[in-house]
Amino acid sequence: MDPIDFQNYILEWAVLEGRKDLPWQKPVSPYRVWVSEVMLQQTQVATVIPYFQQFIKAFPDVQSLASAPLDTVLTLWSGLGYYARARHLHESAKVIAAGDTFPNTLPALMALPGVGRSTAGAILSIACGQSAPILDGNVKRVLSRCFGVLGWPGDSTVLKELWQLSTFYTPQKEAAAYTQAMMDLGAMVCKRRQPLCEQCPVKVSCIAFQNNQVNVIPAAKPKVKLPVKEKIFLMLVSDEREVFLIKRPLKGIWAGLWCLPEFSDLEGALNGCEDYLGFVPVYHLQALRRHTFSHYHLDYQVVFMQTEIKEIVLEDSVCYVPKTDRKLGLPAPIKRLLNQL
Ligand code: ADE
Repeated sequence: MDPIDFQNYILEWAVLEGRKDLPWQKPVSPYRVWVSEVMLQQTQVATVIPYFQQFIKAFPDVQSLASAPLDTVLTLWSGLGYYARARHLHESAKVIAAGDTFPNTLPALMALPGVGRSTAGAILSIACGQSAPILDGNVKRVLSRCFGVLGWPGDSTVLKELWQLSTFYTPQKEAAAYTQAMMDLGAMVCKRRQPLCEQCPVKVSCIAFQNNQVNVIPAAKPKVKLPVKEKIFLMLVSDEREVFLIKRPLKGIWAGLWCLPEFSDLEGALNGCEDYLGFVPVYHLQALRRHTFSHYHLDYQVVFMQTEIKEIVLEDSVCYVPKTDRKLGLPAPIKRLLNQL
């Protein structure tokens, strides 16, 4: 299809149907768009909205984010997952705050930790009014279906073709409206499951729709069986319902977050308990649970003990948390466990 026609159909649809009340749209600024785009990288809009609002309230500008302790940033990210995003945001804020202006070129944005080509394109188009293509999950789906791109979009050849299409169809003017429109179309109409093709402004020329291939384009990621890791978490709870937590190292999963002490098996957990307390109280081994990361399944069990734990020697990285203190950065599964207490 002619790019001008394509853009016009998309833009006209967005005037009537596009989202105009998202919190990062009121008002638009490079800082707010950057924060929102990083939050939206692996997370749905509905989940992001309250996190974005709290984050912006705590850090209204890049200077306030740059000067905050990492712990505070992680606390506000707690439950959103993919915590490298929060650490990268914080690192980037320090870089940006040290300069005069917010970066506004593709290379300068892509030099920031956690900003890839699509996120950089979104910031440039939505916040800086520049013509820059994006290729997030929604746009990959719209382009794949519309132009009949077969194959999994994560495959490098397919990805290259999609970037070419995105670049070719992104307008010189109205790039902000077009970028938002493509994301909205992907999220609201060209949905992964049960797309609303009858409402689509480009259905007449959509190859997948015309050939009844909407359910097979884009192709699914080839299935690989994720490895399984097993862990035991030790939950020591005092009579005052304080929980014994340890701060994780700054490398690896849940880096820098507060967590229950972790062991590879029950024997290790009981030995660990002996180290902490000098004895092993009555314990209850809870049912097996699973948390799935992008690259492995974590199968874990909680060893629960209620005991007097005043005698544990506190080091820098060890603390008690009263039941009511929810201000620490906690991984989502740990937060759920504590909420069940
Ligand atoms: N997903 C990624 N960026 C988005 C945005 N700006 N609006 C809605 N959904 C998005």
